[in-house]
Amino acid sequence: MSVSFPVSEKVFAVIGNPVRHSQSPLIHRWFAQQTGIDLSYELLEAPLDDFSGTIAQFRAAGGVGCNVTVPFKEQAWELADERSIFAQRAGAVNTLVFRADGTVYGDNTDGRGLVRDLSVNAQLALKDQRILLLGAGGAVRGVLEPVLAEQPSGLFIANRTAEKAAALAKDFADSGTIAGGGFEQIKGEFDLIINGTAASLRGQVPPLPGGCLAEQGVCYDMMYAAQPTAFMVWGEQHQAAQVMDGLGMLIEQAADAFHVWHGIRPETAEVLACLREQIQQDKL
Ligand code: ATR
Repeated sequence: MSVSFPVSEKVFAVIGNPVRHSQSPLIHRWFAQQTGIDLSYELLEAPLDDFSGTIAQFRAAGGVGCNVTVPFKEQAWELADERSIFAQRAGAVNTLVFRADGTVYGDNTDGRGLVRDLSVNAQLALKDQRILLLGAGGAVRGVLEPVLAEQPSGLFIANRTAEKAAALAKDFADSGTIAGGGFEQIKGEFDLIINGTAASLRGQVPPLPGGCLAEQGVCYDMMYAAQPTAFMVWGEQHQAAQVMDGLGMLIEQAADAFHVWHGIRPETAEVLACLREQIQQDKL
């Protein structure tokens, strides 16, 4: 693989495998236009067995920062010399900065993106809310610290493999009121249910007990698609006051990455509306 870019611009990329469906180049180019910053932002598919080699080539070609997506977020964490508290707790990095002194800084903006989408875009304060988080993989671990920092009254992690949820809850026990277990261990009702499982990819919904969504409760799927996900349909069927997908989270995590690199946080509302329209048109 050879990587070359024009030298006048600051060079960024999103690195993953597969990566061709990533909306990040479009989002960052819109942000750049809006803020008047001269940059290039490309898609870079790394071989599954050579993430570090791809990073080395990208840096040699003048790359100053990149986003990292599946399946390389943990390897990006390893690669960083210094990490934000969010990256540290998440065990995964989605934003790398290649500093002029040769060191590498790693951040994880996914959780901040989720919290901002809920609290600013949807005007849903998480403080004192009862939150049910579905799934116990990297996506859920990545958002726990910022979600707990909002001080919900309690957070239960439910997962198909109960032990993984319990272990994850234990890891974050010092950050808030948190417990974890299997879906059958879900007790009581919740003001907010966030789906971080991969079930939506297969059009499935985790087996949730009846009555777990409180009246006026909200359902949030960290995935997005042109059509509502299976979990969003479940929320509508269970009279959720609001049902959201993860497109806002995608834009907000990108805005935070943009801030890490450029010191400016772009306006997101218009970009979100444009991307929503494009996804509907393209049926992505
Ligand atoms: P990611 O990094 O995107 O979170 P992952 O680490 O593979 O990906 O985790 C996927 C999550 O979705 C897990 O919590 C997984 O449950 P298990 O830990 O039991 O494997 C969950 N998941 C995947 N398919 C699911 C399904 N059909 N129903 C319920 N949960 C599912």
